[in-house]
Amino acid sequence: MQILNGKEAAQSIKDALKLEVAQLAANGKEVPHLVAILIGNNGASETYVGAKVKACEEVGFKSTLIRFEETVSAFKVLETIRDLNRDPDVDGILVQLPLPEHISADEVITCIDPAKDVDGFHPNTIGKLVLGQPSFIPATPYGIILMLEHYKIETKGRHAVVIGRSNIVGRPMSILLSGSGSYGNATVTICHSHTQNLKEICATADIVIAALGRPGFVTEDMVKEGAVIIDVGITRIADETRKSGYRISGDVDFPAVSQKASFITPVPGGVGPMTIAALMKNTFKACAVKHYE
Ligand code: GUN
Repeated sequence: MQILNGKEAAQSIKDALKLEVAQLAANGKEVPHLVAILIGNNGASETYVGAKVKACEEVGFKSTLIRFEETVSAFKVLETIRDLNRDPDVDGILVQLPLPEHISADEVITCIDPAKDVDGFHPNTIGKLVLGQPSFIPATPYGIILMLEHYKIETKGRHAVVIGRSNIVGRPMSILLSGSGSYGNATVTICHSHTQNLKEICATADIVIAALGRPGFVTEDMVKEGAVIIDVGITRIADETRKSGYRISGDVDFPAVSQKASFITPVPGGVGPMTIAALMKNTFKACAVKHYE
């Protein structure tokens, strides 16, 4: 069994980007600029946005964090996005989800200029992804593809079972794996809360992508000997023995499942860092197209 070390793989991607950014700067070109919008005080969102801003610093991007109170109006958020859409200094815009109940995520995401949609959530972006046209790939599925690429794990002709059908992870992941692009050409089954015989289906998978947000859901009896296990779960569980007061749990029962897997991602340190590296790649791409226009 081999651990898929997301920290290491993400570092090599960020190191390569850092060189490319230095090259841009040396040629007097603008470096990428990512703007993150954070609404409210959700602890997990604070952590993720903090990690995104830190990664920008690491690779040499400009970054701006715009914070709003939980009570901010939808109008104000949309107005801010429209300003950012018009600002030629801004390459990428992301609005950290989830949003407060009074603000529609659909409306906010649709307001972002697709050319700056580095999260890959805009309907135009998803439409292109479905059609196999070049587009921004949502960061988590993109990070998983980059992980498979880094460890040269073949997907062609294999049976991939994606557990979870979220717009952010499961659905785009299933499209990429079943597409004809590199790291596609798999036979894909999507399982969700209404799937019957989930255990039996999962046990036939060569590749399992667990993205349902239920700690320890994938157990040893659901996994075929030699399967590749990708754990997207990041649930916070109260733990008084930790300084933070919580620990992070994945969707896979790691100690037991790792005994059967050929490759497996740890949580933390697996998919999480790859997601950030993928966002950095998208932001670089959003900026780079300007230099070739
Ligand atoms: N919330 C959970 N995952 C994500 C993500 O990839 N992007 C944004 N903007 N919000 C999220």
